[in-house]
Amino acid sequence: MSTFSDNLLWRYAVKKFDPAKKLTVPELDGVLNAARLAPSSYGLQPYKLLVVTDPDLRARIRNDAAYDQPQVTDSSHLLIFCAKTAVNEAYVDEYVAHIAAVRGVTTDSLKAYRDTMVNSVQRRKSPDITVWCQKQAYIALGFLLTACAQAQIDSCPMEGFDPAKVDEILGLQELGLTATVFCPVGYRSADDPAATKKKVRMPAGEFVIQRQ
Ligand SMILES: Cc1cc2nc3c(=O)[nH]c(=O)nc-3n(C[C@H](O)[C@H](O)[C@H](O)COP(=O)(O)O)c2cc1C
Repeated sequence: MSTFSDNLLWRYAVKKFDPAKKLTVPELDGVLNAARLAPSSYGLQPYKLLVVTDPDLRARIRNDAAYDQPQVTDSSHLLIFCAKTAVNEAYVDEYVAHIAAVRGVTTDSLKAYRDTMVNSVQRRKSPDITVWCQKQAYIALGFLLTACAQAQIDSCPMEGFDPAKVDEILGLQELGLTATVFCPVGYRSADDPAATKKKVRMPAGEFVIQRQ
């Protein structure tokens, strides 16, 4: 059985997906759930994960907004991490109500936590707040990539797209969201040339800085 490290070495950013190979519903649910379980600042999860399956939409995104990158149309599912463009008091209150319901406590008992969160989001002005939400979304991307590797499902993180165009194609502005990072998932094509390339990473001794 492959170890966690083996699986991290097995994964790579797929350039050529096999368009005929699709994730099953449990496979897809498993990796989406990993992204859902990612930690975020205060637990606010200021992002959403969009699953794009419609072939016409995917073709439009590829051609008009993603520099013709084939992963957009040829993967099993195109996943798009979308960050919130604003986080207001009402959003924090909804979250506090959710915590209260899940944990069986009163919202009053969470008042200090609520006020801290409101202060934190109010002192971040646009566009800083969007950047903050995007940072949170990238943590969820990391969870998804790792979950894919563990399940030997292929993926490719992608920033090579025009966010404004993607937002327009998918009507994300109306939802208070902006496309932040793509992660097509699926299965590698048997002749993906990128599959056989040696992994290039900084040596551990260079990457890790010790201060003792
Ligand atoms: C944030 C981010 C954006 C990336 N954007 C693209 C992209 O637009 N297209 C692409 O083919 N690969 C993209 N990559 C893949 C990287 O080039 C790849 O992860 C890196 O070269 C390391 O190789 P490996 O993931 O195969 O080990 C991106 C990776 C990350 C993390």
